[in-house]
Amino acid sequence: NSYQPLAGKQVLVTAGPTIEAVDVVRYFTNHSSGKMGFAIAKVACDLGANVTLVSGPVELETPPNIERVDVTTAEDMYDAVMSRFNDQDIVVSAAAVADYKPTNQYDRKMKKQSGDLTLELTRTRDILQALGKAKSTQYLVGFAAETDDAIKNGRDKMARKNLDAIVVNDISQDEQGFKTDTNAVEVLTNKGEHQSIPLQSKEKVAQQLWSTLTKEM
Ligand code: PMT
Repeated sequence: NSYQPLAGKQVLVTAGPTIEAVDVVRYFTNHSSGKMGFAIAKVACDLGANVTLVSGPVELETPPNIERVDVTTAEDMYDAVMSRFNDQDIVVSAAAVADYKPTNQYDRKMKKQSGDLTLELTRTRDILQALGKAKSTQYLVGFAAETDDAIKNGRDKMARKNLDAIVVNDISQDEQGFKTDTNAVEVLTNKGEHQSIPLQSKEKVAQQLWSTLTKEM
């Protein structure tokens, strides 16, 4: 690939789900496969960037020439991303990070009780929001996985989290979003750009995403 608009850039991408333990055998997670984030990382590398991929537990091979950092929980991901943030030019947050974790995480197997069980959940820290507060020169790209009012919610998230761009992923359609090999997204930038990227492979979506972003930076 001779077209290298990201040459010399440090790019960090987050991908995959997080896992939040209830006890030693049970946990909360979500349906993220990591495919979207891995495609974004691979294409950034093809375009010349030095790429760090911070990934939750997924079953994907690491694309060549990418530094991969494996994490499990939202808190691990927070630490892995924050500790590397100062060195980055661009951060893309495609991970599906848990918003809540069990308040008590038992280091034994919880015994079955008679009757129902109520679990208390505690909010996790929002990584992207913390990056938005901490950012100096970095170009910060978030995702918004939405089932309703996708564009409006995306715009609100971009403003609230102090992002430069947001990728709105309507996950109410069958062929796009979590787990699928294909996706369709809308890219909004804080300069007012609005680009629709139609349904196609996640790698092709990643190519169009970087083409839009590199024009906007
Ligand atoms: O992994 P795949 O199977 O390929 O699926 C791709 C995807 C659907 C996971 C991906 O395209 C996507 O939409 N990722 C974002 C999923 C999500 O959790 O969105 P959200 O709207 O809940 O979060 C908004 C943004 O804040 C995201 O950039 C998220 O990474 C970030 N966030 C959320 C919570 C938190 N504690 N910290 C965060 O940084």
